[in-house]
Amino acid sequence: GSSQSTSGQAEAGKEAAAGGEKKVLKVGTDAAYPPFEKLGPDSKPVGFDMDIIKAVAEANGWEVQIEHAGWDPLFEDIEQGKRDIAISCITINEKRKKKYDFSDPYFDAYQLIMVPESANVTKVEDIKNMRVGVQSGTTGAALAEKILGKGNTRLKGLDDTPSAVEELYAKRVDAVVGDNGVLTDFLKNSGKAGYKVVKDPNVVPEQYGIMVKKGNKELLDGINKGLKTIKENGKYDEIFKQYFGE
Ligand code: ARG
Repeated sequence: GSSQSTSGQAEAGKEAAAGGEKKVLKVGTDAAYPPFEKLGPDSKPVGFDMDIIKAVAEANGWEVQIEHAGWDPLFEDIEQGKRDIAISCITINEKRKKKYDFSDPYFDAYQLIMVPESANVTKVEDIKNMRVGVQSGTTGAALAEKILGKGNTRLKGLDDTPSAVEELYAKRVDAVVGDNGVLTDFLKNSGKAGYKVVKDPNVVPEQYGIMVKKGNKELLDGINKGLKTIKENGKYDEIFKQYFGE
């Protein structure tokens, strides 16, 4: 750490300051989650989360190297230390906190149910007898599983959320459960008419956090400090407006 001051480290510090050799943060995401993360031109992940982590890194004088990992690998890679950070609309919950550490929350979210406009759905219990598509391993999947029952064959788990929505469009499932920001984006931008999203007010809200390997306190402190900085200096609001309006 920087508190140690052997002459060697002091030299390294000087060199970094002079030569601009910055700490490079390895960031992973599941870039199939617009507008938070998607593959941009040249196949680099772009989106709200990417802008946030870049701003947090900048506040710390770090550089970032962002890669698309996919949802399940994202978690494994952090555990194995292959990457430093995962930012991917990851909901902070007790189960995940046992294995990983999370930053302060940076975004509020909730689950929505996406169904054809004609569907008679007002609350999450209404999907009990339906075929339901979810992204495996997400909080939406856990919610659907709670309603349908574990191992129910009508519950269809997909590797990413766009695939779950495709199943709905293809009428192979009757409903999709997923995060509000992404399903709303599909509704607005996929060009498919005849669908709606339903919010059950009794479903508990969620918050996204930036995930690091358990025990990586120094990194987490830097991230939290960076988040605080960008919330105070207006950068967070600027990014938020860019993606979600006022
Ligand atoms: N918020 C949900 C969860 O944590 C879904 C996040 C999925 N993110 C993604 N980039 N595919 O389970």
